[in-house]
Amino acid sequence: MYSAETSTVAGINATIGRTPLVRLEKLSTRADIRIWAKLEEFNPGRSTKDRTASALVNAGIADGTLNDGVSVIESSSGNLGMALARECLLHGWPFHCVVDPRANPRALAIMKAFGAIVHMVECPDPATGDWLIARRALVKQLLAEIPKSLSLDQYSNRAAFDAHADGTMSEILEDLGSAPDLLLVAMSTTGTIGGCLQKLHNCAAKTHVIGVDAQGSVLFGGTRSTRTLPGFGAGVVPELAHYVHPDEVMRVCDIDAVAGARLLVQKEGILAGASGGAVIAALLAKIPELPTGAEIVIILHDSGAAYVDTIFDDTWVLENLHTSAADLAKKMEQL
Ligand SMILES: Cc1ncc(COP(=O)(O)O)c(C=O)c1O
Repeated sequence: MYSAETSTVAGINATIGRTPLVRLEKLSTRADIRIWAKLEEFNPGRSTKDRTASALVNAGIADGTLNDGVSVIESSSGNLGMALARECLLHGWPFHCVVDPRANPRALAIMKAFGAIVHMVECPDPATGDWLIARRALVKQLLAEIPKSLSLDQYSNRAAFDAHADGTMSEILEDLGSAPDLLLVAMSTTGTIGGCLQKLHNCAAKTHVIGVDAQGSVLFGGTRSTRTLPGFGAGVVPELAHYVHPDEVMRVCDIDAVAGARLLVQKEGILAGASGGAVIAALLAKIPELPTGAEIVIILHDSGAAYVDTIFDDTWVLENLHTSAADLAKKMEQL
């Protein structure tokens, strides 16, 4: 692990984790609360999924499922694919990543730069209209076709919890010196929030944990509808979610997530991705209820650099979310 005292590290994976916890000073007008953002874009692959990929691979090596000659096949909306592509490259395993058209073209180019073979599903699942179901069906098909192939399955692999219990949440506790009163985490596989909850439970912390979901996602009793933004929300309840019990779930619509991401840049100079925008929108809705002295932590899963052609582009927002720049500016004021 990298630390300020260390100037050299062994290999790129040693730079995973120990991401900064940054105090947000202008997002809220309330001076009686403190908001901290865990900036996961400081991981080498620019997202929290470096932690997950590394934990899945280490668990696979430890239990003997990952060995010489295997091919790895995984479904990803982008970030895990980029992180696993690097892991597989370092270990010499061919990596097949199954993605859908909502994935960021830059993410796909990065996976390919790390030697991944990218498989794009062309249509959503015909019965549900869901892309994730279609991706998982293609993973199954590839597993049957490619000899000695396996999937680490980020949707069911509990090693993901360890990555965030021992990594993300432990670092937050260490940096703050105590447990926060409130934690907001965007959810998809629920690995991040599940690991954070596990760590908080193990140290008997009283933190109120809010899972931030996408409107239209089926997580925790949500009702399926169209979602445009990648990264957060799910079209199928992942197996991991059966072990995860957030204190509260807040659902954020696409345009509010975009407004949240834009506001974060405007107020704090932090360029975060779409799920970070959703977390900001949820946080701002919650702030009026918070008691004086509340200590709040939000996790910002990735960098907005990969979203400059989408959520940070007015033409893209107009074409895909049917909202003009003027209406988006009003949304930002209303958050
Ligand atoms: C940008 C982003 N935010 C949030 C999440 C949700 O994390 P988790 O899958 O651990 O629930 C993901 C997962 O891929 C992500 O890529």
